[in-house]
Amino acid sequence: MALKKSHMVLVLLGFFLVGLAQLSAGAESAAEKFQRQHMDTEHLTANNSNYCNLMMKARNMTTDRCKPINTFIHEPKEIVDAVCQEENITCKNGQTNCHQSSSPLILTQCTESGASQFPNCLYDTTYLNNPIIVACEGDVYVPVHFDAYV
Ligand SMILES: *[C@@H]1O[C@H](CO)[C@@H](O)[C@H](O)[C@H]1NC(C)=O
Ligand SMILES: *[C@@H]1O[C@H](CO)[C@@H](O)[C@H](O)[C@H]1NC(C)=O
Ligand SMILES: *[C@@H]1O[C@H](CO)[C@@H](O)[C@H](O)[C@H]1NC(C)=O
Repeated sequence: MALKKSHMVLVLLGFFLVGLAQLSAGAESAAEKFQRQHMDTEHLTANNSNYCNLMMKARNMTTDRCKPINTFIHEPKEIVDAVCQEENITCKNGQTNCHQSSSPLILTQCTESGASQFPNCLYDTTYLNNPIIVACEGDVYVPVHFDAYV
């Protein structure tokens, strides 16, 4: 009887571990989050003044609240990933895994406008062409955080 009980515990533990593994497989990695929030390779630039209203929603940055500021990068992924190969500089938070692009990139800055009120998030769309600073992490060393444009 005692043996059966311990078997039952093992089976339950097994279910629990499988569940945990599925949860973590479903979770978005920091690199994936960067892609969702900051990369737009489909548009060469913001296509109109409504761009940020559409894109902030499409990229799930207005789901729980209106994310106040967000920058989209309109450059190929290889160009943005390569910024991680530039020399290390200090990030705004003091970490030293930031890197600045050697040339300006085509960007769109989305800034929440005065009339915006969750869940009706409204944004101003600003066209920019500036070098960027990103934080990078991982075995495959790729961008995980947009620190600034300069
Ligand atoms: C701009 O791009 C969005 C998203 O792809 C699209 O829904 C919209 O129709 C485009 N607007 C124009 C004027 O091309
Ligand atoms: C946004 O969230 C919805 C619902 O959770 C999901 O289906 C969709 O894939 C997400 N979009 C992006 C760009 O992550
Ligand atoms: C500096 O950048 C390299 C990659 O170029 C990275 O592996 C390393 O973690 C960074 N160093 C620090 C102290 O952040």
